[in-house]
Amino acid sequence: MATICITGGTGLIGNALAQYLSAKGHAIIILTRNKDAVQSGNVSYAFWDVKKKSIDANAIAAADYVIHLAGANVAEKRWSNNRKAEILNSRVDSAQLLVKALQETPNKVKAVISASAIGWYGPDHGTPFTETDPCYDDYLGTTCKQWEDAIDPVTNLGIRLVKLRTGIVLSNNAGAFAEFKKPLRFGLATILGSGEQMISWIHIDDICRMYEYAIEHEQVNGTYNAVGPNPSSNKDLNIALAKKLKGKAYITIPVPAFVLKLVLGEMSIEVLKSATVSSAKIQKAGFQFLYPTIDAALNELVR
Ligand SMILES: NC(=O)c1ccc[n+]([C@@H]2O[C@H](COP(=O)([O-])OP(=O)(O)OC[C@H]3O[C@@H](n4cnc5c(N)ncnc54)[C@H](OP(=O)(O)O)[C@@H]3O)[C@@H](O)[C@H]2O)c1
Repeated sequence: MATICITGGTGLIGNALAQYLSAKGHAIIILTRNKDAVQSGNVSYAFWDVKKKSIDANAIAAADYVIHLAGANVAEKRWSNNRKAEILNSRVDSAQLLVKALQETPNKVKAVISASAIGWYGPDHGTPFTETDPCYDDYLGTTCKQWEDAIDPVTNLGIRLVKLRTGIVLSNNAGAFAEFKKPLRFGLATILGSGEQMISWIHIDDICRMYEYAIEHEQVNGTYNAVGPNPSSNKDLNIALAKKLKGKAYITIPVPAFVLKLVLGEMSIEVLKSATVSSAKIQKAGFQFLYPTIDAALNELVR
């Protein structure tokens, strides 16, 4: 069993991942900014302050693997210039701090698995995006590029690096899926914009399993899209969800693009963007999805 240090391990993915890996018998050390976090079972906490560039070197010394998830939430607040800087800097600065700690602390870390995002890619261009496509020249595209560049020096230390360009994670606990469900409490299935835009999603259990797979398989090395094999349109996903939750007792409410632009500002670009992303590379590396279709994912989530 391994010791796995997870930065940002208190968030949506990190929470689920820490529980998943600890249930498998691994010792988990969560690197957090929250000094009140209390050890529970196999999960302990260590502290870092990215702004002050301080990090608990003991956590790095103890780790066999590091999973890097930390970063200010992309969808939580409107994208003011300050918020955009925080989203970028929290990722770049934390990655740089981690690399420095790995350089300066004697350690036995075998691999670093870092989150990235499919925000790397632009709007659909005819064929599904693959890992060799260049980053798109917009805010999220260039943010993902700087985020990935900041963690890349890990490879100069002789440590295997895996970057998971993650799609929209479907979980009941938070994130986009929890937002899709909210209006359905009132019987409303909201269709955003035309509803035709493709969402490259992944079930929360599959993203946890993919991190585990990246840890366990040395041949997994470099960048992989962490999306399921069957993206859905916004409309298909929301109607399928409405049917599962409400049977026939729902009405569809289109939310026009201009309303989304007014409410969300620049972030609306991401909600309205169609992004069909390929999962072929990780599947070729042997990863198998538990929830490959939206029907399978919703059956598990809406129980
Ligand atoms: N969820 C998705 O659909 C999705 C999709 C694509 C990519 N991703 C990426 O995957 C990673 C994990 O996603 P998630 O949904 O679990 O994120 P999340 O719920 O927002 O959690 C991220 C964690 O990062 C830490 N954090 C927040 N602001 C920070 C800051 N300013 N400086 C340093 N650390 C900070 C927090 O941990 P502490 O408070 O304990 O320090 C937080 O729990 C993120 O980098 C995210 O961009 C997620």
